[in-house]
Amino acid sequence: MPGSANPHAGAVAIVVSGWDAEAWAQRFRTLAPSRPIRIWPHQIERADEIAYACAWRAPHGSLAEFMNLKAIFSLGAGVDHLLADRLLPAVPIVRIVDPDLTARMVEYVVLHVLIIHRHQRLYDAQQRQRLWRDHDQPSASEVSVGVMGLGHLGSAAAQALRGLGFQVQGWSRTPKSISGVACHSGADGLDAFLAASEILVVLLPHTPATEGMINLALLRKLKHDGALGGAHLINSGRGLLQVDSDILAALDQNLLASATLDVFPQEPLAQESPFWQHPRVTVTPHNAATSDPRFLVRNVLTQIERLERGEPLENTIDRALGY
Ligand code: NAP
Ligand code: GLV
Repeated sequence: MPGSANPHAGAVAIVVSGWDAEAWAQRFRTLAPSRPIRIWPHQIERADEIAYACAWRAPHGSLAEFMNLKAIFSLGAGVDHLLADRLLPAVPIVRIVDPDLTARMVEYVVLHVLIIHRHQRLYDAQQRQRLWRDHDQPSASEVSVGVMGLGHLGSAAAQALRGLGFQVQGWSRTPKSISGVACHSGADGLDAFLAASEILVVLLPHTPATEGMINLALLRKLKHDGALGGAHLINSGRGLLQVDSDILAALDQNLLASATLDVFPQEPLAQESPFWQHPRVTVTPHNAATSDPRFLVRNVLTQIERLERGEPLENTIDRALGY
C-alpha cells in the first residue's frame, strides 16, 4: 500500500512500456514492503520523491521529470533503450546481470544451435510428409560456432556450447580468456573469427559501434565450407545490429543456410516482413531471455541497498561506450 510506505526509503518509479508494470510493482512491494513504489505515470503524485527509476523502454523524457533521481535501473541487460533518450538524467545507469537472465539466454542459444546442428527443421518437414529418412550427422566436435560478444551472456553461452563439444570461437572489443574458447578481439581479430564460424551467434549490445554490423559484407566472411555445409546466423542480441535486407540477400545467395532471429530493427516485426514466411528463417518475439520480475526485482533491490549503505553500485554501464 503506497500510503503505509516508509517515507525515508527512497521511492522507486516503475517506468515501462509494453510490459506489465503491475507485476513489477507487486514484486517490489512484496520484497520491500516499507519502500514507496510508484507506477509511472498514474501513481506519481510527487516527482521529487522518486530516487530510483526502474525502466524498460521508458517514453523519452519521462525520467527527466524526476529531479532527485539517484540511479536508473534498466530492467533488462541492454541499455540502448535508455541511451536513446536525449533527456536522460545524468545519474548512474545499472543494468541486469542475473543468473536467471543468463540461464534463459544460454537455453535459447543452445536450443537453436542444436536445432541447426541436428537438422531438426528437416526432420520436422519429413514428419509432416510421414517420411522415415536418416541424414548424415556431423559430430559437435566437427562444427564450429562463433559467439559475437563475450560479456555475461556471450561467455556463458560459449561455455555451454563448449561443454556440448562444439568448437567455439568468441569475439569481443577487448581481449578475453575463456577456457576452451578461441578468443578474438577488436577490428583486427574480426576476420579470423568470422572465417572460423559456421554458426554465428550474435550477443553484442546495440551501440554506435555495433549498429548495422550484421550485414552482407560480414556474412560473406563466415565459414561456408564447414561440417554443416553452410553458414547459419542466430541473432539474440539486438535488432539494430542487423540489416534485414542484407540477411534476406544472404539467404537468397546461399551465403546463409538459415537465420534465427529473436530481435529486429522494428519490433514487433511488421506483418508484411518476408521473414515470417521464409522457409529458412526462424522468428521468435524477442523472448530469448525475458526479464521476469519474480527473479529480477531482488537484483535491483540489492543494488539500491548497496547505494543506500554507501557502497558502489555493481553492473553500471559506460555511457561513452554505450553498454
Ligand atoms: P555485456 O556483458 O555488456 O557484454 C557485451 C559484450 O559485447 C562484451 O564482450 C563486449 O566486449 C562486446 N562488445 C561491445 N561492443 C563491442 C564492439 N564494438 N566490438 C566488439 N565487441 C563488443 O552484455 P550482456 O549482458 O552479455 O548482453 C549482451 C546483449 O544481449 C545486451 O546488450 C542485449 O542487447 C542483448 N540481450 C538480448 C536479450 C533477448 O531477449 N534477446 C536478452 C538479454 C540481453 P568487452 O567484453 O571487451 O567489453
Ligand atoms: C532484453 O532484450 C534485454 O536487454 O534484457
